[in-house]
Amino acid sequence: MERNTLRCLYIVCMFCTALAGDSCSLELRPSRVVVAFGETVTVNCVASRPVRVLGWESAVGATHTQNDLTVQWKVDSLIDWIEEPICYGVFFTAPRQCEEKLNLVLYKSPDSVSISLNHTGTMVEGKEYQLLCEVQNIAPVQYLTLRWYRGQTEVYNHSFADLSPTTPVQVSSSLLITPTVADHGVQYRCTAELDLGVDGPRPPPSVTSKPLDITVHYAPSFSHPEDETLELSKGEEASLNCTAMGNPPPAYTWSTAALSLEKMEDQPVLTSSTLRPGTYTCTASNILGKKSKQFIIKPKP
Ligand SMILES: *[C@@H]1O[C@H](CO)[C@@H](O)[C@H](O)[C@H]1NC(C)=O
Ligand SMILES: *[C@@H]1O[C@H](CO)[C@@H](O)[C@H](O)[C@H]1NC(C)=O
Ligand SMILES: *[C@@H]1O[C@H](CO)[C@@H](O)[C@H](O)[C@H]1NC(C)=O
Repeated sequence: MERNTLRCLYIVCMFCTALAGDSCSLELRPSRVVVAFGETVTVNCVASRPVRVLGWESAVGATHTQNDLTVQWKVDSLIDWIEEPICYGVFFTAPRQCEEKLNLVLYKSPDSVSISLNHTGTMVEGKEYQLLCEVQNIAPVQYLTLRWYRGQTEVYNHSFADLSPTTPVQVSSSLLITPTVADHGVQYRCTAELDLGVDGPRPPPSVTSKPLDITVHYAPSFSHPEDETLELSKGEEASLNCTAMGNPPPAYTWSTAALSLEKMEDQPVLTSSTLRPGTYTCTASNILGKKSKQFIIKPKP
């Protein structure tokens, strides 16, 4: 009676197998593994019908059993960039042989992530420069996203999904920038992030470069470039503020129609109670240019 039931189940099961086409009656648990370089990995291969030989074909940890319905593939420290291991079964009944490939993802965080500029020295406003981010020894590169940050903001990302090697490689990404005054003092960084899917570690492993400090040289400019008119009574103190933005910091000169103000020539702010009515011109200059601004002093009526 019991025997008949078993036999019946077996027939039903074979029928299922037939319906599933090439179904192998082998199941890998888990079917996909994500392992960090040097870590332990364990996968069971389970047969769902009587099996003569069940085994793992692999460059490391190959093994087989006879008549057992389970065989384990275990490597204590996986440090070989092996092909996908295969579990195979040799059965008493058709299909007499079949195999199941393990979806194995062996990953390695990069040895280094570095950022550089195709230029030495200071950048000049309005010119184009290339930033380069280099990633050494990362695998598998198809799961890598390189993210570029300006300050805290992601400005660009680069994916390598179309590459196929599973062994460690070196890759790079470049970013073209045309710095403005607003970039002076800003830091750029790049981050290599390995997103290995739902079975992978959370958060995804990532390595960030050291920041690259941006120093930009730019010509002087005034926040209020218009002429300024001041009405002063005799003996009243006047303060003429010619401070300009610029890098390197601008040098200043002052002049009036009559004479150049030698003794104050290098100050951005001219403060005096002895300025006579007239037009005072201040010039702020650095290696990238010069700007002038006029202050007109009128007697108070
Ligand atoms: C840096 O890259 C930019 C953009 O590709 C290029 O215009 C510039 O000439 C390069 N500078 C040097 C020093 O190679
Ligand atoms: C890359 O950046 C684009 C926008 O620039 C964004 O839509 C996309 O989600 C980013 N990709 C990743 C993987 O973060
Ligand atoms: C001159 O103006 C600048 C801004 O243009 C300001 O930062 C600075 O404090 C002013 N100096 C004086 C003495 O008013």
